[in-house]
Amino acid sequence: MKMIAFSVRDDEEPFFREWSTKNNIQVDLIKDPLTDETMDKINGHDAVLALQTGEYPKSLFNKAQSLGIKVFSIRNVGVDNVDLKEASANNIAVTNVPAYSPTAIAEFSVTLLLQLLRKIDNFRKRSEQQDFRWEGNVGQEIHDKTIGVIGTGRIGKAAISIYRGFGAKIVAYDPYPDSKLAAEGIYVDSKEELYQKADIITLHMPASLKDKHTIDAQAISEMKDGVYLINTARGLLIDTAALIDGLKSGKVAGAGLDTYENESPLFNHDLRGKEIKDPLFNELRELENVIVTPHVAFYTDTAVKNMVRLSLNSAKSVIETGTADSIVNAE
Ligand code: NAD
Ligand code: COI
Repeated sequence: MKMIAFSVRDDEEPFFREWSTKNNIQVDLIKDPLTDETMDKINGHDAVLALQTGEYPKSLFNKAQSLGIKVFSIRNVGVDNVDLKEASANNIAVTNVPAYSPTAIAEFSVTLLLQLLRKIDNFRKRSEQQDFRWEGNVGQEIHDKTIGVIGTGRIGKAAISIYRGFGAKIVAYDPYPDSKLAAEGIYVDSKEELYQKADIITLHMPASLKDKHTIDAQAISEMKDGVYLINTARGLLIDTAALIDGLKSGKVAGAGLDTYENESPLFNHDLRGKEIKDPLFNELRELENVIVTPHVAFYTDTAVKNMVRLSLNSAKSVIETGTADSIVNAE
């Protein structure tokens, strides 16, 4: 058995090497992402392990099948950028890591909100100038707010539990409500109802094309004045131009964004000293009431270790037994 992993970072490498030694299975580590240019490297392997937020090569699964690949294991949760139908048509199992650390993302989303509500960035910038005045930066508290959670899966649930610790009121929307949370009466029947009730809206749903720009100008117009938006889910869910309008008008008081709809040429790249040719992104990040982070909500020591180990375990399981709990393209 031989595996190949793409987009391998230095912080992942020890976990790959440890697993490879322990299981006595060769895992070739490639720093580059899986692209048309690097795809030939999969030749001679049984499993491909990948992690990227952008598109995979269009001909990936067709080529992979012809080269004898049995499983494509992503080291992350979201499968929005994987052509699952094409994988199935080519008899390749796709696995993800559904729960490497939901709390990592939930904690980060709350961190973004706290930074916005307590104007941490403004105080930090002032402090750098030796300006230690308070005025103009009065904060807000979470405990007297209503938090609207869209998507109450693993991460949404972890976020709810944190917000409850703050004493906040929760309203939630999910087309597949959790029975325990439903019994607690937190669900509303529609996103529109949630928009009307929530002071803060946090997105924890997956992104499929049908949900593109779920948060658009119409949705924003239905929200409370001065709403805060937090998105650690997927950039595609928010119409950035509409959000910018909302932020500029004051309708949206602040946004904490760990994802952005055109993020893949930007995030996790060193663009120091380079011109960013994305006017929408440039406009967004220049706004004072916005925090943009480069898709790092997942990025903790616990999560990184689990992402590597669990994806390797799934790939091994598919090769040895033909199946794994984390297959996402089962019929
Ligand atoms: P999950 O599958 O456990 O939960 C997703 C929930 O969303 C489910 O309860 C589902 O019923 C619900 N849902 C589906 N469609 C919906 C809709 N149209 N409206 C409202 N709810 C809907 O997934 P999870 O582990 O909680 O992850 C959620 C998302 O977070 C992932 O799909 C991924 O896009 C994103 N994510 C981001 C990071 C990061 O680093 N920023 C890391 C991991 C995951
Ligand atoms: C996910 O696990 O879905 C993420 O968004 C993390 C990212 C590194 C792909």
